[in-house]
Amino acid sequence: MKRSHYNGEINISNLGEEVEVLGWVSKKRNHGAIVFIDLRDRTGIVQVVYTDSDFALDIRNEYVLHVKGKVLKREVSNPKIKSGEIEIKASEIEIINTAKTTPLIIADETDALEDTRLKYRYLDLRRPKMQHFLDVRHQVKIIIHQYLSDRRFIEVETPNLILSTPEGSRDYLVPSRIHHGKFYALPQSPQIYKQLLMIGGIERYYQICRCYRDEDLRADRQPEFTQVDIETSFLDQDEFLTLMEGLIKEIFIKTIGYEVKLPLRRIPYLEAMDRYGSDKPDTRFGMELFDLKEILSKCSFTGFKDVEAIKGIKVDKVASTTSRKIIDNLTLEAKKFSLSGIVVLKMENNELNGSFTKFLSEEEKRQLINISGAKNDDIIIFAGGPKNRVCPLLGAIRLNYARQLNLIQPNTYDLLWVVDFPLFERDVESGQITSSHHPFTRPKDEHLKYLDSDPTKVLSYAYDIVINGYEAGGGSLRIYNQDVQKKIFEVLGLTKEDLKRKFGFFIDAFEYGTPPHAGMAFGLDRLMMILTNTDNIKDVIAFPKNLAAVDPMSGAPQSVDESQLKELGIKIEE
Ligand code: AMO
Repeated sequence: MKRSHYNGEINISNLGEEVEVLGWVSKKRNHGAIVFIDLRDRTGIVQVVYTDSDFALDIRNEYVLHVKGKVLKREVSNPKIKSGEIEIKASEIEIINTAKTTPLIIADETDALEDTRLKYRYLDLRRPKMQHFLDVRHQVKIIIHQYLSDRRFIEVETPNLILSTPEGSRDYLVPSRIHHGKFYALPQSPQIYKQLLMIGGIERYYQICRCYRDEDLRADRQPEFTQVDIETSFLDQDEFLTLMEGLIKEIFIKTIGYEVKLPLRRIPYLEAMDRYGSDKPDTRFGMELFDLKEILSKCSFTGFKDVEAIKGIKVDKVASTTSRKIIDNLTLEAKKFSLSGIVVLKMENNELNGSFTKFLSEEEKRQLINISGAKNDDIIIFAGGPKNRVCPLLGAIRLNYARQLNLIQPNTYDLLWVVDFPLFERDVESGQITSSHHPFTRPKDEHLKYLDSDPTKVLSYAYDIVINGYEAGGGSLRIYNQDVQKKIFEVLGLTKEDLKRKFGFFIDAFEYGTPPHAGMAFGLDRLMMILTNTDNIKDVIAFPKNLAAVDPMSGAPQSVDESQLKELGIKIEE
């Protein structure tokens, strides 16, 4: 098919030229004997004018056309489109293919339900916005390849049918036909392989790869997603983070023209939790948490007597609009964090109001106003309990208010590292110890001594890059000493047999000269969400799953033929 130009790229400089274009009919308008057609391709829209209105009668939206014609200046230009100053006076139009009426409108603004968009994703992808998202994604990948190749990284593919890698989620399993009753796992990440590549002397590895995790889905989580996975040998944490910051800077400037100031701030995990109630703080607005333990543990409310933490936040100018219902909802929120309640006090006529004030002396009230800085019409919200519940609760409330009150300036970017994560966390329900990142993360040297006595006290060389409150990536220095690695597995409660079966090959490899190594993985989809300013991860993935992990287009997952199951030695229990 002959094409002399892309539609969005024809402009006033082409006046008078004979052109040939291809594309889909975005809109058709009949003006008596003249027909106007907006013809769309990947680059945009060009207006085609045709005088054979009889022939044009057959043309409908989304038909595929081949148009020959001459570029003329438009009488009235359309500043909304790139080719808005010109139109093509068609001498010949060929209908290459017809189209049924589409189940969704092919335009940036669409009122189609998400499942309809996913069911007809190939039509949804025709929307200019979606094309833009995919285009930026491609640009970002090119920048990543370039930046890393320039610095002696090589991309190495690692297998997808593997033994489970412990990233803390559930695995997707693939049954083996040849070995009945045995399963491969799809990688939650290439973690073990990239470390083996370091032992293999690759020194600088990266891979833009798919990862699979069977976990509860959210607006920023998909069951299969893409990581920019990176590993290096012989770099310390500072050198490694500097290298990674450079990559992010390059991506931001080259895609959205935003100049990231380096070095990025580094906030220790404990400080992030303390000040923002989150390990992925959005610091584009204030409303920081403050500590009330000193003032309130001695007040007459017995519930605060022996609690680990009492923290509060102040929300400006909402006292008059804070209804009973809003307070009830905050209490419900507290219950979600396994806390019995939450206190809301209003600052009105220069004094604190709310039923909780009956537990407070005048001096305590004065101190509360002082610490919070509350002024008339502000509210103070606080809660007491274990630190790892109180802080995240207030962090969540802080974020909700910021969104509700539009405290976050659009098109601003906030990038930082959260560093020094605890090596382990204790499951609230089971009391069991698990790795905060994964079990290959190196404990801080000075904390090795707590591994036996109080493992939750051990901090690690682990870091996350946080952008606008999203965890856009994370990684760590790795353990390269076999004894420390064994010890960590022990603390995690792995039996000798488990260890041998799951990680035997990995531990063995450590005996053959393991270099110190460090790495991280960026969540490419999350990075794309930030760069394209969308809060829905599905927007930046060509064929995503819905929140029920279903692909509404193909219908996957589906049952399979009995014969396939038989081959695999699998029986389905109803
Ligand atoms: P982690 O588990 O933190 O680290 O994952 C790295 C980054 O991947 C993104 N991410 C996701 N994105 C979309 N959907 C998901 N379900 C999802 N899960 C994670 C996040 C996250 O920061 N092997 C380690 C990295 C390392 O230590 O080098 C790892 O996978 O942006």
